[in-house]
Amino acid sequence: MPNDNLKKLYVGALKDLYSAENQLVKALPKMAKAASARELRKGFELHLEQTKGHVQRLERIFRSLDEGPKGKKCVGMEGLVKEGSEVMEEDFTDAVLDAALIGAARRVEHYEIAAYGAVCEFARVLGETEHASLLEETLEEEKDTDEKLTELAKQINTQANQESHQKKHDQSRPDRKTARRVA
Ligand SMILES: [Fe+2]
Repeated sequence: MPNDNLKKLYVGALKDLYSAENQLVKALPKMAKAASARELRKGFELHLEQTKGHVQRLERIFRSLDEGPKGKKCVGMEGLVKEGSEVMEEDFTDAVLDAALIGAARRVEHYEIAAYGAVCEFARVLGETEHASLLEETLEEEKDTDEKLTELAKQINTQANQESHQKKHDQSRPDRKTARRVA
């Protein structure tokens, strides 16, 4: 028999995730715009499309629960997004900014992986097998994104390291970053 309190916790956690995903739908285009490496920009754009799909999966679950998806603000994601916008304000060179964006994005992914892992388990124990498989699909996409970011970081960090050395040797070079600074 499903426990009413656990069900309440489950629905609350889903609402929190709904808020988190919607915050990301707004943040990812800004991160894509700030990225210099084409692959990173494309990665953010692809994850934006996936994130819209995550929102839709949650909406499907809410419909089957006969519940509205709104009513919570994910303050965890709010903080992570804020940290992401703070790195965009820094006066970093291109590859260093990309490295910082990857760091911010990986924090987001790990947060989501933990949150989806938890709701998946709630869904299973509550006997909501259909929800569990929908949530599992999203969980896999978050893990996949984290792996892609980890891969991308290898080349971008090396580039970032060289870029910093170059900058030290050529202090007179005008900062290209000001030209493409994001709003
Ligand atoms: Fe997501």
